[in-house]
Amino acid sequence: MDSFVATRSRMPALEERIRANPSAFRMLTGERPTGLLHLGHYFGTIRERVRLQSLGVETFVVLADYQVITDRDTAASVGDNVREAVLDYLAAGLDPDRTTIFTHSAVPALNQLLLPFLSLVSEAELRRNPTVKSEQLASGRALSALMLTYPVHQAADILFCKGNLVPVGKDNLPHVELTRTIARRFNDRYGVVFPEPDALVTDTPEIPGLDGRKMSKSYGNAIALSMSPGETAATIRRTRTDNDRRITFDPEGRPGIAGLLSTAALCTGSTPEALADEIGDKGSSVLKDLAIEAVNAFLADHRARRSEFAAQPGLVDEILTAGNLRANAIADATLDEVRDHMGMAYANRQEPVLPTRPAG
Ligand code: TRP
Repeated sequence: MDSFVATRSRMPALEERIRANPSAFRMLTGERPTGLLHLGHYFGTIRERVRLQSLGVETFVVLADYQVITDRDTAASVGDNVREAVLDYLAAGLDPDRTTIFTHSAVPALNQLLLPFLSLVSEAELRRNPTVKSEQLASGRALSALMLTYPVHQAADILFCKGNLVPVGKDNLPHVELTRTIARRFNDRYGVVFPEPDALVTDTPEIPGLDGRKMSKSYGNAIALSMSPGETAATIRRTRTDNDRRITFDPEGRPGIAGLLSTAALCTGSTPEALADEIGDKGSSVLKDLAIEAVNAFLADHRARRSEFAAQPGLVDEILTAGNLRANAIADATLDEVRDHMGMAYANRQEPVLPTRPAG
């Protein structure tokens, strides 16, 4: 049984434990601010975060800015991407009073956890990570040391707040598995500090983009949550289809048509097969009209709320400042505990004594 199937089979029991006692859980998840958030993010994870938040699970969302430079040479537009993501979180229903939204780079103690954690894993283990392998291949570059070790950094993202629930897609399961290994090895070696977090996977299949491949900004097949209705229509109309007027759901043979059907189905709560039957032999331009209508209707409320938040000056900065402050307080406390357990807590809780200059 592969690990995704195994994790899926554990979901009903986990869901029951969450519902029985939501305050026993702390959820951490996040994403790399590499571009605008799109429908794939929404159906894959954002909707799930809002659901957990509403159940009363304390939630943390990291905008993983240091993870942006694993496969590119520049952090240009990271700041804009972070701000746009916060607007989408708010519009989707994440409530900053119940969800801590923060960025890696503003939380030094989180990053420092990387050092002891790196000592707990071997190079061979890191090289076996299938997600790292495929991301490196896709990047077309040499394997940077950050690319090789970012799953360990991701363990620090999760463990700094003792997160024990991590909603992720299939791609990130190896990282949660590594996080469990790191927590276990730390606890065995130095005494118990960390929980072994559970991955939470949803039933939603990986969201196809408009061309049937995974929805991703870099493939140009994504519908950003922040697009206008006109931009949405233009993007959907660019999808490659074919001349067969009979619409069928055939992800292998007709990926563009399948992507459109899946997107429209998710937005209307229907199934791709039912939509294909409904369109029958009216052809792909009717399918495109239907998809445009479905997506724009689905996103109308989100977009209206988003513009209201965007119109409030300083709002996003306030939320990030508060989130980073809170993340720092928690990370500082965890790092103190880690150093205590490692026997490295010297005079670290006292005010620093500055050397005095000799007089004269
Ligand atoms: N690697 C995740 C992605 O690209 C983003 C991420 C960073 C993350 N830190 C995390 C996800 C911690 C879950 C938990 O999608």
